[in-house]
Amino acid sequence: MPIISYALLLSRLNLQHLIIVKAFDRKLLAAPVSLKDGDRVLESGAGTGTWMLQLSTQVPSTIQIHGVDIAFRLFPAIYPTNMSFSIGSITSLPESWTSSFTFVHQRLLMGALTMTMWKAAISEISRVLVPGGWVEFVEAQASFPHVGTQSTKLAMFLVDMMRDKQLLVDCQIYIPIMLQEAGLVNIHSERRGIPFGRSAGQDGIDGSTNFAGAFVGMKAPMLQNGGYGYVQSEEEFDQLIADAKDEWLASDSNLPFYTIYAQKPL
Ligand SMILES: C[S@@+](CC[C@H](N)C(=O)[O-])C[C@H]1O[C@@H](n2cnc3c(N)ncnc32)[C@H](O)[C@@H]1O
Repeated sequence: MPIISYALLLSRLNLQHLIIVKAFDRKLLAAPVSLKDGDRVLESGAGTGTWMLQLSTQVPSTIQIHGVDIAFRLFPAIYPTNMSFSIGSITSLPESWTSSFTFVHQRLLMGALTMTMWKAAISEISRVLVPGGWVEFVEAQASFPHVGTQSTKLAMFLVDMMRDKQLLVDCQIYIPIMLQEAGLVNIHSERRGIPFGRSAGQDGIDGSTNFAGAFVGMKAPMLQNGGYGYVQSEEEFDQLIADAKDEWLASDSNLPFYTIYAQKPL
């Protein structure tokens, strides 16, 4: 990836982290977990590790924070000594990790996991949690609000692409069910809205701009299959995103985000 595109991606993902955390009362986690010396935390699908880096400033350095991701390209170059990273799929974690993490955090994997993969990831997370440990998922609602013709078109386009790739549209509905099926308990789901309109000031501008930016990363899969009948070219795709963003900015809409947490039985 060209260095400027890489830098833009990093800054978009880091701004996205700040936007999401702000929407959840500036808290990095909602689960009622209390971390103590020697505990291990896992960031599942770590990306840039931005959540881990912020957590490391809020917990004692005696807590180990590990990030796993299928790709290493976004891992930070510099991080505290109680942080570490490894490459691997969250659908198949190392055997040696069984019953070793007090808390597992996973955010924004909605664009990567089919139903089968979600079930495998939840089963693996359950395995690597200590009895009594907690897992927390943070995900957006893929069928986001329609506030005009172009944002409606984009929303339908996204859902059609996700269904075609067997990705779980509106995974926030299924995660609690899958957690229950996997035997986890104390399952809670909380919803927040990330503002998209200019009426919300800088927060709304940041929300719309960041979400529009997320579609740049989805351009390649969305342009497959003849643009799913929604766009004919890259130029039309870019114009659709720009028009949808204008509609979001002119509206007072929110993008629903969910945090869903659950506990492994003692
Ligand atoms: C949208 S990014 C989210 C990154 C991070 N969780 C955050 O919120 O900033 C999704 C991440 O999941 C990773 N990923 C996708 N499929 C995965 C898999 N099967 N196992 C591990 N990581 C995966 C991608 O490489 C990417 O870094």
